[in-house]
Amino acid sequence: MHILVRAHGKLLERTVDTLSDDELFRGAVGVLDANRTPHGTKASPKLYPHQWSWDAAFIACGLAVLDSRRAKEELASLLSGQWSNGMIPHIVFDPSATGYFPGPERWECKAVSPHPPSTVETSGIMQPPVHALALAAIMAADSRSAGENCSRWHSAVLAQVVAWHRYLLRERLDPETGLLVLFHGWESGMDNSPRWDIPYEHVVPGADLPPYDRLDTRHVGSVRERPGTMEYDRYLWLLEEGKRAGYEPSSWREVGSFQVGDVFSTALFAAASEVAATCADELGQNALGTELLEMAERAREGVRAHIDPKTGCAHDVDLRTGGLLPHNTIAAFAPLLCLGADDPAFEASREIFFSDGWCGAGQLAFPLPPSTAPGSAAFEETRYWRGPVWPIMNWLFSWSLGRAGDIAGESHLREHGLDQLRDGTFAEYYHPFTGDPLGSISQSWTAAAALLWLGNGRLVHRASGMADAHGLT
Ligand code: SER
Repeated sequence: MHILVRAHGKLLERTVDTLSDDELFRGAVGVLDANRTPHGTKASPKLYPHQWSWDAAFIACGLAVLDSRRAKEELASLLSGQWSNGMIPHIVFDPSATGYFPGPERWECKAVSPHPPSTVETSGIMQPPVHALALAAIMAADSRSAGENCSRWHSAVLAQVVAWHRYLLRERLDPETGLLVLFHGWESGMDNSPRWDIPYEHVVPGADLPPYDRLDTRHVGSVRERPGTMEYDRYLWLLEEGKRAGYEPSSWREVGSFQVGDVFSTALFAAASEVAATCADELGQNALGTELLEMAERAREGVRAHIDPKTGCAHDVDLRTGGLLPHNTIAAFAPLLCLGADDPAFEASREIFFSDGWCGAGQLAFPLPPSTAPGSAAFEETRYWRGPVWPIMNWLFSWSLGRAGDIAGESHLREHGLDQLRDGTFAEYYHPFTGDPLGSISQSWTAAAALLWLGNGRLVHRASGMADAHGLT
């Protein structure tokens, strides 16, 4: 495939490998198989050799297209790390994996908190709550399968999802703003997004920050694809703060130098609560369904209160100062994740999403949303969440638009999102203008996105039928 890309002000023609749908499907299965461990699926081969919370949830969604038993193992393995207060930690460590920092010895969760499980090692913070999507995908796959009745497994996992959502409502939903409170940029999953530039200015690493060696930059093509040194010092400093607060939200609220209300995580909380309510109803647990719908409404109210009426885009809040954090990042499209298509804010933000400031920007290799608006001052084309295009975000928004009944928007993201992946690298993120793969290659959730798009675009009658159809069994 030849594509025209604009690089350094010149229009260049570039040839990229172009895989067919079947080749792409097989490639995605190959990535997930290669990243499989006895404990689940590592997020990527070297850079992230453990289970990450929202990665594992999206990976389980993708696996459900292929093999619902494996999807269940993936989700169960992550949930084995759930804390007794309901928190799903952002990393569940694989004891046999090496090469990632900070590991369990730096987090010291069991030493400072009574909540972590005794059986596995985890981090002490969370990530966005998308796990109900995995449960729903698994239930849908199981309902297509003529195999065993899995409703007991579904109910047990629903109970874990409910415990997680109750934790979010009880300990993380800020009563004033109605937004989920985060104590670390890693909790947003968008570590170095410009969303957090102002709050991070308040994070001043102490002289007693224990020394450390970064390992992440060894696993990418260039240090310019990862957060900078100062940012990393701050990340590690917040970890020390969390440890001192016993990773207890009420204590961290007293001392945390980074406290933000995250509109994107809150929108996902609303959407996931609705999805979980559907699971509860299917399982005949109507009281839980009602409770989850109430949570969804609470979270949606928080998002609504932070939408700019002129643009329909949403902003975060710096809870230490009360200051609003308007930004030109993909998180501004939070309304698309949790509002109905007939809502004026949905319509307004959709228009901007597909406008020439975003998906329609002329320089883009593919008409897909970069993580930060190309025209904005904070934009950096190769650096992690400050510019590159993230396939899993493309999938998330295509899912969400489809859910809202916006079939044109869903198809746009699916078609171009798949085209971006036809180079077969399954990269963590891509250069928005050249389409070059960046970060880790063979990233599991990117492979999961391909399976979801290809699986959902075809008729799948049995959970294993997809693998049969592609000669994979
Ligand atoms: N994304 C972080 C990292 O890069 C941790 O969640 O290590």
